[in-house]
Amino acid sequence: MQSKKIASQFLILCCAMLVSVAQAQKLPNVMILATGGTIAGTGATSTTTVGYTAAKIGVDALIEAVPELKKVANVRGEQVFQIASENMNNDYWLKLAKRVNVLLAQSDVDGIVITHGTDTIEETAYFLNLTVKSRKPVVIVGSMRPSTAISADGPINLYNAVLLAGSQDAIGKGVLVTLNDQINGAREVTKTNTSTLDTFKTPELGFLGYIQGSKPYFYRQSVRKNTVDTEFDISKLDTLPQVDIVYGYANMGPVALNAFVAAGAKGIIHAGVGDGSLASTVIPSIIDARKKGVVVVRSSRVGQGIVARNGEADDDKLDLVVSDTLNAQKARILLMLALTKTTNTKEIQAMYSKY
Ligand code: SIN
Repeated sequence: MQSKKIASQFLILCCAMLVSVAQAQKLPNVMILATGGTIAGTGATSTTTVGYTAAKIGVDALIEAVPELKKVANVRGEQVFQIASENMNNDYWLKLAKRVNVLLAQSDVDGIVITHGTDTIEETAYFLNLTVKSRKPVVIVGSMRPSTAISADGPINLYNAVLLAGSQDAIGKGVLVTLNDQINGAREVTKTNTSTLDTFKTPELGFLGYIQGSKPYFYRQSVRKNTVDTEFDISKLDTLPQVDIVYGYANMGPVALNAFVAAGAKGIIHAGVGDGSLASTVIPSIIDARKKGVVVVRSSRVGQGIVARNGEADDDKLDLVVSDTLNAQKARILLMLALTKTTNTKEIQAMYSKY
């Protein structure tokens, strides 16, 4: 009698285990790559929402803080590096992009979430948008409040990011950025407010969608080429060409531009006033930079709209490139990658129309 009871209890236990294994197998496999930022930040008190320290909490603690993740995906974590994102650089980007590509080539990885500081999230997103070689979802997420704050936004943002990375709807949409229940595309998203939770916007063109009730909803998609449809291959690169940004302002002189060229810049992004205008004080330095083979891209400090080719400057005569709608920090990323392929300004201009 006793042995029959033990046998039936054993059977029930086995069934329960099989059910939970089957459930786990049905869930998508999502890798969480942690890189630091406020989402991993800690403050002195629960009301410290400024003056906290970014990049303190490791990936395991981030995952443990959101037990709900296990209901929507089989999550695994990896600490790729641990920085405040103002310290992001080309070396970190190459390391991250290579790791993402290795992981996405594995059949046991369905999507990737990257936790990241919000200050340069838009740059990392665009870099990966151009260099990841997979259509599987890659979602970058951050938070505006540190993990120790009242109403910290990191846990819900991470939950949404994992949902999105495991969603069939996110396949082939390019690299995505999610915070505040909104989904943005890598090419157009930008940080618009120093501290509010709704800081990330896609000015004028709009969000791609929302996350509501544990489900992503998409409404539009960028038509610019990304991921598997780009010509950029970083798999064998250890460095990227030096490209710097010169900011336009009243009373501007040529000092910064000359200094960057003297320091070895291979490309300059000129974030000009208005439609990317060039002050007469910088034009001789731009002509000189072109003679030295430095590629100069006219972008705009305005933040919205297309920089018109041959509009505010004779780009054909000066042999310049215009940035389309890319802001200066994203124009810099495209120029770095373009310079790994060519220095021909016509070919580079074509890339700004494509990506
Ligand atoms: C950072 O970018 O690392 C700090 C700021 C933030 O994550 O919001």
